[in-house]
Amino acid sequence: MEVLFATNNRHKVEEIQSLLTTDIRLITLKEAGILEDIPEPFETLEDNARAKIRYILDRCSVSTGFSEDSGLFIPALQGRPGVHSAHYAGPQRSDKDNIQKVLTEMKATPDRDAFFQTTICLIWDNKEYMFTGICPGQITSDPSGDQGFGYDPIFIPQGSNITFAEMTLSEKNQVSHRKKAVLQLIDFLHQAKKSG
Ligand code: IMP
Repeated sequence: MEVLFATNNRHKVEEIQSLLTTDIRLITLKEAGILEDIPEPFETLEDNARAKIRYILDRCSVSTGFSEDSGLFIPALQGRPGVHSAHYAGPQRSDKDNIQKVLTEMKATPDRDAFFQTTICLIWDNKEYMFTGICPGQITSDPSGDQGFGYDPIFIPQGSNITFAEMTLSEKNQVSHRKKAVLQLIDFLHQAKKSG
C-alpha cells in the first residue's frame, strides 16, 4: 500500500517510515512533484493538519494521504510554543534560536513540565480521520545531545534521564508522541486494507 505523506521535513519522513510496517510505503511530496512550502495558518494542530493534507491533495493526482502537525506545549508558558513551535523565535525557523527563546523564557521557572503532541489527519475514501499522540516530559536547563531535530536537545521524556537528542532514533521511537499517533494510523490502514 502506498500513502502520501504531506511534509517537507525529512526528519519526520525518516521517523515515520521507520515505524511503518513493510507493506506500507510513504510517497513523499518530492516524489509527488510538490516542492512548495505548505501553509499552516491555524491555531490548533488539528486545523493545521487538516489544512495541510487538503492543500496537497488539491494539487496532485493522489486521493489518499495524511499530514501531521506537531508541537511542544509548556504549561508554565501558557502552552507556548505550541502550534507555533517551528517558528517560535522567528521566520528563520531556527531550532537553535527556538531552543534559546524557550530556555530564556523559562529561566526563573521551577515548573519544567512539558509535552509534545502530534496530530495526524488522514484522508481516506474522501473521509477524514484524526489520530493524536502525546509524550509528557520535562524541559532541561541546558541543551544536551545532537540527534533528532527541533526541541529534542531540551526535552527529557517521562521515565528517562536523557534528552531525545541523546537517544538513537529507535530509542526515541519507543516513547515518542509521533510513534503513538502513527501506531493508530497503521492500525487504521491495516483494518481498512482487510475490509477493502
Ligand atoms: P510542524 O509540525 O512542521 O509545524 O513543526 C513542528 C515543530 O515542532 C518542529 O519544527 C519542531 O520545532 C517541533 N517538534 C515537533 N516534533 C518534534 C520532535 O519530535 N522533537 C523535537 N521537536 C519537535
